[in-house]
Amino acid sequence: MGIQIRLMQPEDYTSAIQLWQELPGLGLSSADREEAIQAFLKRNPNTCFAAAQDKIILGTVLGGSDGRRGYLYHLAVHADYQKQGLGSTLVQTCLDALQSQGIEKCHIFVIADNQEGIQFWQKIGWQRRGDILVMSKEIR
Ligand SMILES: CC(C)(COP(=O)(O)OP(=O)(O)OC[C@H]1O[C@@H](n2cnc3c(N)ncnc32)[C@H](O)[C@@H]1OP(=O)(O)O)[C@@H](O)C(=O)NCCC(=O)NCCS
Repeated sequence: MGIQIRLMQPEDYTSAIQLWQELPGLGLSSADREEAIQAFLKRNPNTCFAAAQDKIILGTVLGGSDGRRGYLYHLAVHADYQKQGLGSTLVQTCLDALQSQGIEKCHIFVIADNQEGIQFWQKIGWQRRGDILVMSKEIR
C-alpha cells in the first residue's frame, strides 16, 4: 500500500508520538500528552494531516486557527522518507484546508537552532521574521 495523505485521526496518536520522539527539531512538552493532542484534533478536525502507510504514521502536520491566523505545529517526516516531497505536501494540504476556512496568513514556531528546519521552511517560501519576538507565560 502506498503512502496516503489524509486527515489525522484520534487513533493515530500512538504512532505519531513515536515519530515525534524519534526526530530532532521538534520541541515536545506537556502539550503533547495524549489528552492534549486529542483536544487539539477535536478543535481542529479538518486541518491536521498525516502521511500514513496502512496504520503507520510517516508524517504529520497539526494545523489550527484561532479564527484570525493559522498556526502549524509538528511538521514531521520519518527520517527514511525525507526529501521525497512529503513535508511540502503536508504543509500545502494544511494551508489549503486553513485557507478554505478563511485564513489568510499562517505562522509557525521554529526552535532557533533547528537550522535544517529553517532551511526547509525558507525553501518552500516562508519568510523568517526579525521583527517579532515570542513571549510566553505559564497559566496553569
Ligand atoms: C523538515 C521536514 C519536515 C522536511 O520534510 P521533507 O519531506 O524532507 O521535505 P520535502 O521533501 O517536501 O522538501 C521540500 C524542499 O525542501 C528541501 N529540504 C528539505 N529538507 C531540507 C533541509 N534539511 N535543508 C535544506 N533543504 C531541505 C527539499 O530538498 C525540497 O526542495 P526541492 O523541492 O528543491 O527538492 C523533515 O526534514 C523533518 O521531519 N525534520 C525533523 C522535524 C523538524 O525539524 N520539523 C520542523 C519543525 S519547525
